[in-house]
Amino acid sequence: MSIKLKSPRKVLVTGGAGFIGSNLVRLLVEQGVSVRVMDNLSTGYIKNIENLPIEFVQGNICNANLVQDAVDGIDAIFHLAAHIGNVKSLEHPQEDAQINVLGAVNLLEAARKAGVQRIVYSSSAAIFGELLTMPIAEDHPQNPDSPYGVSKLAAEKYMLTFAKLYNMTVICLRYFNVYGVHQRYDAYGNVIPIFADRLLMGKPITIYGTGEQTRDFINVKDVAKANFLAATRAQQADVYNLGSGFDITINTLASYCQEASGIKAVEIVNAPPRQGEVLHCRADISKARSDLGFEPNPDIRSGLQEYFNWFKKDRNI
Ligand SMILES: NC(=O)c1ccc[n+]([C@@H]2O[C@H](COP(=O)([O-])OP(=O)(O)OC[C@H]3O[C@@H](n4cnc5c(N)ncnc54)[C@H](O)[C@@H]3O)[C@@H](O)[C@H]2O)c1
Repeated sequence: MSIKLKSPRKVLVTGGAGFIGSNLVRLLVEQGVSVRVMDNLSTGYIKNIENLPIEFVQGNICNANLVQDAVDGIDAIFHLAAHIGNVKSLEHPQEDAQINVLGAVNLLEAARKAGVQRIVYSSSAAIFGELLTMPIAEDHPQNPDSPYGVSKLAAEKYMLTFAKLYNMTVICLRYFNVYGVHQRYDAYGNVIPIFADRLLMGKPITIYGTGEQTRDFINVKDVAKANFLAATRAQQADVYNLGSGFDITINTLASYCQEASGIKAVEIVNAPPRQGEVLHCRADISKARSDLGFEPNPDIRSGLQEYFNWFKKDRNI
């Protein structure tokens, strides 16, 4: 049973202008925490955090001097800035390692020198590679099959090693598929922004294989909540798998997205299965539940409705 610790007074959020970071920043502000964001705006948007009473530092986490200044006076760090995605990392492996590994070490060194003792690190289910058991618990074998998976795992190891060496409380949260407000469609897009884009443009959506493959989608608001719980309740350095704990098929997801878009007339095209695609994926979140008191909202349909409403507004549709 965990004991509630005091909330940090001043925090640094790296990558705070991004999809997940900006949702976390909003939650922290609502909780009365003073927030400094450090982001180079490579994939983040200032409009995600505009009008929030925060301090913003534009810069790269690979710049050691800048990071050292950014951790000054900070009680806890949420580290989200990263080079993101399996496909992108295959195209740019050096940049991926530079930002995700050396950037993380930079931050750890700065934290150590400044005496910051609590860090919540955004890790990823990509560290597991091929999925062998279901649901996926923290001790599932970790054999990443992309440079991104390797760099996120390497950063986790650095986090836990610094925790051990310097008595820091570092919590690694391994996110599964996150969706929600501020998630934009891009060239490396996730399935929900792709469906939203296609549906709202009136274009057919493509489902690879039978569509009976399953995924665990977690709402970004639950991810933000888990970060806050990790910062306020975790007693010691540890790793946690973070999903909704539920899985749904891609066919069901497509029908929920159609419902949320209000557009049912769009054609669904079935394409051959993608090579190497994982068939089933679901997080075992019992450890986050028992240690952190984490309880995700299971209502994906209302989460999708909120997302589609935001997506339309963002695109002026
Ligand atoms: N979205 C998901 O489904 C998912 C799943 C697993 C893990 N994650 C992890 O969550 C974190 C946040 O991801 P996101 O989905 O919000 O992506 P995002 O691209 O929206 O956010 C990343 C933010 O980091 C900033 N950034 C990138 N490189 C930087 C650098 N060198 N210096 C400073 N800032 C930099 C970007 O500008 C952006 O604002 C990442 O660490 C990612 O690995 C995300």
